[in-house]
Amino acid sequence: MSETFQFALQATDGNARLGAITMPRGTVRTPAFMPVGTAATVKALYMDQVRGTGADIILGNTYHLMLRPGAERVARLGGLHEFARWPHPILTDSGGFQVMSLSKLRKLTEQGVTFRSHVDGARYEMSPERSIEIQGLLGSDVQMQLDECVALPAPYADVERAMEMSLRWAERCQTAFGDQPGRAMFGIVQGGAEPVLRERSASALKAMDLKGYSVGGLAVGEPQHVMLEMLDVTCPVLPADKPRYLMGVGTPDDILKSVARGIDMFDCVMPTRAGRHGLAFTRRGRVNLRNARHADDYRPLDEESDCPAARDYSRAYLHHLVRSQEALGAMLLSWNNIAYYQHLMQSIRGAIGEGRFLAFAEDATEGWARGDI
Ligand code: GUN
Repeated sequence: MSETFQFALQATDGNARLGAITMPRGTVRTPAFMPVGTAATVKALYMDQVRGTGADIILGNTYHLMLRPGAERVARLGGLHEFARWPHPILTDSGGFQVMSLSKLRKLTEQGVTFRSHVDGARYEMSPERSIEIQGLLGSDVQMQLDECVALPAPYADVERAMEMSLRWAERCQTAFGDQPGRAMFGIVQGGAEPVLRERSASALKAMDLKGYSVGGLAVGEPQHVMLEMLDVTCPVLPADKPRYLMGVGTPDDILKSVARGIDMFDCVMPTRAGRHGLAFTRRGRVNLRNARHADDYRPLDEESDCPAARDYSRAYLHHLVRSQEALGAMLLSWNNIAYYQHLMQSIRGAIGEGRFLAFAEDATEGWARGDI
């Protein structure tokens, strides 16, 4: 285990990168998928299950945890790792994005953002400094700068103003974070769907010599080709020797195409949220277990999977659980989906290491297109 936060590239295949981030709480093999643990829980899963699927790191949310149960309380209880019983690395988002999408009566200024909680209406203030303070109280290993992400489509001037302010907030977060050798603070590239702004944001953040770089403001409703074009202009500007994290992405197809452009880390609610809605991710694409065609199907989702949820339960049983709104239906499908995503990442890493990433991506895509058996 490393005393310091370090990223090592092990192999490249085209622009795809195989690497590892080492930090005191463990190693994160990249490309990595981080299950989302918004409220100190990866919804419907035990941490042992999350770990068992091969996850090296999970994501927590500053916004949710500051409202409930409160960052100071989590700190008193020993920090987020201890509180949630996940002793491995944790990355936290800064709160900016969630304030914009969830809170009420927001007011954004150069100083920061004031808002009312979506839980109880209480008033909060969040500045770049307070976001870093909260992430420190939680005990986060990989912290995000506070940023402003504008909803797309938006006028150029609005996107530019938010991107420039995010850069100033990155400087304030870097100062507030200071020197913590075992932890990292990532800057967040903004700039909407404007190549010029993306390049300017990425190069200004690069000049700050941060330990890692996130790409934000994407997968917010724009078509996939726009997101990929933004990665095509952003990734070449970012330093090759630092990890790159595409925030809030995505589908398995988004992940393959983003890895191909040089992204190392991902997080998304998709596998767990879809699981709670009766949707399973498999090698043969998505399967909607609500569908009546599964009612008499004794076959499992995937008899070749290592995950018991995929291997040991009939589709008929999963269909019954989903239709009956049983908690176990959400649990088994969330488990299947996180296991599927982690298996995909493991396969991606294997393929990059052996120089066959493109062939792997084509095979995987062809499998999804073939459809369910
Ligand atoms: N999660 C998904 N997109 C974003 C973003 O642009 N900023 C932050 N902070 N989190 C995100």
